[in-house]
Amino acid sequence: MDQVSDLLPFARPEMPAVDPGAAAAAGTAADPEVLIEASAAGRPLGPTGRPMPVLPDPKPITEHGPARVISMCNQKGGVGKTTTTINLGAALAEFGRRVLLVDFDPQGSLSVGLGLNPHEMDMTVYNLLMDRETRIEDVVVPSGVPGMDLLPSNIDLSAAEVQLVHEVAREQTLQRVLGPAIAHYDVILIDCQPSLGLLTVNALTASHGVIVPLECEYFALRGVALLKNTIDKVQERLNPQLEIDGVLGTMFDGRTLHGREVLERLVQAWEDKVFHTVIRRTVKFSDSTVAGEPITSYASESSGAEAYRQLAKEVALRCLDA
Ligand SMILES: Nc1ncnc2c1ncn2[C@@H]1O[C@H](COP(=O)(O)OP(=O)(O)O)[C@@H](O)[C@H]1O
Ligand SMILES: [Mg+2]
Repeated sequence: MDQVSDLLPFARPEMPAVDPGAAAAAGTAADPEVLIEASAAGRPLGPTGRPMPVLPDPKPITEHGPARVISMCNQKGGVGKTTTTINLGAALAEFGRRVLLVDFDPQGSLSVGLGLNPHEMDMTVYNLLMDRETRIEDVVVPSGVPGMDLLPSNIDLSAAEVQLVHEVAREQTLQRVLGPAIAHYDVILIDCQPSLGLLTVNALTASHGVIVPLECEYFALRGVALLKNTIDKVQERLNPQLEIDGVLGTMFDGRTLHGREVLERLVQAWEDKVFHTVIRRTVKFSDSTVAGEPITSYASESSGAEAYRQLAKEVALRCLDA
C-alpha cells in the first residue's frame, strides 16, 4: 500500500495505513451484503465505505438551459471516459434533461459508440473549430436517445490539435464555438482524449466542471497528480470558474480487496469529491458499445444501467439542480 500513497497527490502524511481486515471488521468494507448490517448510521454503506445518501430523482423541469458544461477527463486511456459520457448523458436525458455530448477525441469512440460511421460524417467538431462559417447546427446530430444530441468527431480532429497552435486564443476555441448551445441544453458533456494536450486544455477552458473517471486499480492512481496540476493551471490562467465536480470509481470489482482499497484511498485523498456511485466491471458495457447504444437502452434493467442512473441523480443533486 505504501507505493499507492506515494502516487496520490493529496494523501495526508499522517494518514494511517489501511488495514483491510480491520476496516472490514469496523464496517468500512465494500461488500454490500456485509454493509447493510455493518452500517452504524442506520443507512447501508456504499462501495466507497461511506453511508449511501438518499438520492432523489432530479427535479422535473419545464424550461431548459443554461447548460452546465462538464469534461470527462483523465489522460489515461481505457478508464471509462467515453462509457461515462454516453451513459451519464443518456441517464440524464431519461430524467428529462436536454443533453449535448461532444466527442473531443480524434479516435471518435463516442460517435462510434452511438452508432455513427466515422467515414460517413458530413461535418464534425473539426469543422466547427477550424472554419468560422460552420455553425453548431450544421454539425449536431441526434444520438438515437430522445433528448440527447451529439457533436461527432473522427480522425480529422487530430489535425485540429496541430492547427490550433497557430490560432489566436487557441485555448478558448471550443468555448467560443459551444457558446450558442449553452442556452438550449441543460448539460453538455465533453468526452476528452487520453492526453493533457491542447484539445484537453480547450475542453477544460470551456467547462464549468470536470469529472475524473478512475479505474479501481492501483496503477490508475499514477498520473492523477499531473491531471490535478493541469486542472489547477487552467483554473488559474484560463478559467477561474472551473471546479472538480467529482471523481468516479470505474471498473470496480467488489470481490477483490484490491478494488476496495483503491476506493478507500481515493476517499482519503479526495474526500467528498468521490461519487458515492461506483461503476462495477461488467461485459455489458462492451456489448452495448458494439450495439452502438447506451447501456440504459441496450440493457435497461442491468446493474450497469442502474449505476449510471444513480450517478445521474448524484450529478444533478451536486451540480445541476443546486
Ligand atoms: N464498468 C466497466 N466494466 C467493463 N468494461 C468497461 C466498463 N467501462 C468501460 N468498459 C470498457 O472498457 C473499454 C474502455 O472504456 P472507455 O469508456 O472507452 O474508456 P476511455 O474513454 O477512458 O478510453 C471499452 O471497451 C468499454 O466498453
Ligand atoms: Mg474514450
